[in-house]
Amino acid sequence: MRQSTRKFMLSAAVLALLTAGAQAGSHGGGNAAANPEMAQLKGEAVGIIKTFFKELKGTLVGAMKEKGPAGAVDVCAAKAQEITARYNKEGWEVGRTALKLRNPKNAPDAWEKAVMEEFAKKIAEGADPKKLAKAEIVEQDGKKVFRFMKAIPTGKACLNCHGDKVNDDVLAVIRKHYPQDQATGFKVGQLRGAFTLSKPLN
Ligand code: HEC
Repeated sequence: MRQSTRKFMLSAAVLALLTAGAQAGSHGGGNAAANPEMAQLKGEAVGIIKTFFKELKGTLVGAMKEKGPAGAVDVCAAKAQEITARYNKEGWEVGRTALKLRNPKNAPDAWEKAVMEEFAKKIAEGADPKKLAKAEIVEQDGKKVFRFMKAIPTGKACLNCHGDKVNDDVLAVIRKHYPQDQATGFKVGQLRGAFTLSKPLN
């Protein structure tokens, strides 16, 4: 399970320095040693997201076919967290989060919230949501942690359960599992949420 209260302790100044270092590195100067490591970690993160997404999508599509959207909410409610937890291995913490949440267990921390706000701004400015990702090495509780997020855009199939005209029978099942649900009202192309991964370094 993701910890929504996960401590995020990093001053803006240190963050700015790390970001500047990473950027300088990518232009051949400064923090060059960090770069191959960053590339390697990014590659691992993208690989995990691919398999994770495939499994989630397969489960969802199967449930939709078999039981329709209302029944699929039950399946999703029963399995999403369990599937997610299985990807927490070899140091990686893996999850999904959003600015407008369905499951409060998926709540973002400060870093995740800021990254998603940046994604949403870029989408509003015309960026392709499928290409939005963010990688950074931050310091948490005195330790270096690699963090990675990838935007999850709203697709057409998502509207059954996240759109602005969700059927009443589907809404009823959503409210049963998630009385505080905020995750409806989305349109195709909008930011639905993001994959979020982290791994402590050394
Ligand atoms: C059958 C209904 C259904 C469909 C269709 C559906 N979702 Fe969801 N979605 C859910 C449920 C239920 C949860 C809560 C899962 C949990 O407990 O973590 C959820 C959670 C999420 C979350 C995690 C953040 C949060 O708010 O808790 C994201 C991101 C998300 N959905 C994206 C999508 C996208 C993108 C699509 C389309 C590809 C989609 N969903 C289609 C029911 C659905």
